Amino acid sequence: METPKLTVVGAGPGDPDLITLKAVKAIKSADVILYDALVNVKLLDYASENAELIFVGKRVGCYAFHQDQINEMIVERALRCGHVVRLKGGDPFIFGRGAEELEYAKDYAIEVAMVPGISSSSAVPAYHGIPLTKRNISESFWVITGTTKSHELSKDIALAAKSTASVVILMGMKKLSEIVQVFSSEGKSETPIAIIQNGTTSQKKIGIGTISTIETIVEEKQLSSPAIIIIGEVVNARVDLSGMYEKANNVNRFSEPVFL
Ligand SMILES: C[S@@+](CC[C@H](N)C(=O)[O-])C[C@H]1O[C@@H](n2cnc3c(N)ncnc32)[C@H](O)[C@@H]1O
Repeated sequence: METPKLTVVGAGPGDPDLITLKAVKAIKSADVILYDALVNVKLLDYASENAELIFVGKRVGCYAFHQDQINEMIVERALRCGHVVRLKGGDPFIFGRGAEELEYAKDYAIEVAMVPGISSSSAVPAYHGIPLTKRNISESFWVITGTTKSHELSKDIALAAKSTASVVILMGMKKLSEIVQVFSSEGKSETPIAIIQNGTTSQKKIGIGTISTIETIVEEKQLSSPAIIIIGEVVNARVDLSGMYEKANNVNRFSEPVFL
């Protein structure tokens, strides 16, 4: 049997072509792959036919497994089967709990490796023409979680709203009203905002407006999670990439739950 090993691998934001060569090599060499809901299942085609594929994601608010169970499964499979790949959406170190899983495995003297991924936080705006920084428009950007561990709005959003930075909010759809209030109270009712659901995939949905109009747009367009919220003048500085989609013929599927 191989040496027990865990590789935490970034699967990118959804488009299966937005994956690194190093990630593909790791997937090919895996004995077991534990994958999340935001992983495009097309990437599992790279796996060896003998690899065990386990869905451990969250669907419609229900977890297939809790984090403790996932940690235990990683260790048990690594010790029993060899190379475990933990395939996670975007970049595993950006709101992905990748570090926790690596630390847990290290406590059991399991060899570990990390393959960064293309994060939705930058790739989704980019794929839809929004540059997070642009000369004379934005000098920096914040990436913030909308919902903290205690289910509250992150206090960093109020700090970011005071700045001139572009603001990218992940996991923020349930907090949209609160986010709108924070920006409005900073006198930013007319600031442009974009919401992109299922970005980089053929199921993408986009709503663009201002802080004062976005809630109506979300309702009209029925936008929901997984989505990214982008706030700032860069939204109006977007490049029209619509031709790129007409040419694209990629199969985009998010994973279907496969329970053990
Ligand atoms: C738990 S976080 C994981 C982020 C991931 N580690 C990354 O780097 O992209 C999940 C959130 O990322 C955002 N997200 C991930 N993929 C997305 C996509 N294709 N389109 C829009 N938002 C996405 C959503 O806000 C979603 O709720």
